[in-house]
Amino acid sequence: MKGIAADLSHVSQKGNVTGFTGDVELEPVVRGADLVVVAAGMPRLPGMQRDQLMAANGGVAVRVATAVSNACPGALLAFITNPVNMIVPTAAEVLKAHGVYDPRRLFGITTLDVVRSKKFIGDSMNISPNDVHIPVIGGHAGITILPLLTQCQPKFKRGLEETKQLTHRIQEAGTEVVNAKAGKGSATLSMAFAGAHFVDSLLRGIGGQEGVIECVFVASDLTEAPFFASPLELGKYGVKRYLPLPQMSDSERESLDKLLPVLQQNANEGIEFARKSLK
Ligand code: LMR
Repeated sequence: MKGIAADLSHVSQKGNVTGFTGDVELEPVVRGADLVVVAAGMPRLPGMQRDQLMAANGGVAVRVATAVSNACPGALLAFITNPVNMIVPTAAEVLKAHGVYDPRRLFGITTLDVVRSKKFIGDSMNISPNDVHIPVIGGHAGITILPLLTQCQPKFKRGLEETKQLTHRIQEAGTEVVNAKAGKGSATLSMAFAGAHFVDSLLRGIGGQEGVIECVFVASDLTEAPFFASPLELGKYGVKRYLPLPQMSDSERESLDKLLPVLQQNANEGIEFARKSLK
């Protein structure tokens, strides 16, 4: 950890870098923070689903949320740690138990799903990914990742079969990397790109910039799932405004209906994990 801190401290940016190690240094590291971003956790091995990481990574959510409750209860807290669909409900439950939960301040970063959608669509349409705009809603695992290709700008004018294949590729893109790494981890570089993009948006929101919109996984009452990724405006205190659910085709609506029970189940498991850990 000290090595990573030394390495990062040479980057020509404003700001100081300090290394901390171990659970005992968790509270000192977050004390007084306005924003805590958590990238810690075990990666998947080939053949694993993200929810199989809960046993290894659920404790990260519990420990970090506890440290945040004690040392910086007003901070925004954003998790990259998998399984995002369970980690966020777990952290919410821990923050609630400490009496400091504010749903506007807790995030599961799903930006990599948007990044991948922009890249794959851009390549397919032979345009820059930067010019592709697409909402990706739901969660961050398999069928819970729902890129709304019918809402893509510019229009993604492809047949049903190609649309289905692209949707599947976006949903399984994490697995593509896990398999390519063959036991040596999961996406880190594209994830760092996505995480940096989202954190930059959060900071712009905190800084008072208007109209900062991102798709991100948060507590939500837009659907029956208690936590759900959808386009939101970010502001000084985290979530400033939930945009309405984007329009959908009939087949996207069917996909949404299929993913909601999965997200509900994931949330229940995350909450249960927190309750057991808090006993
Ligand atoms: C990803 O989408 O690349 C990450 O969630 C890591 C993983 O396990 O797939």
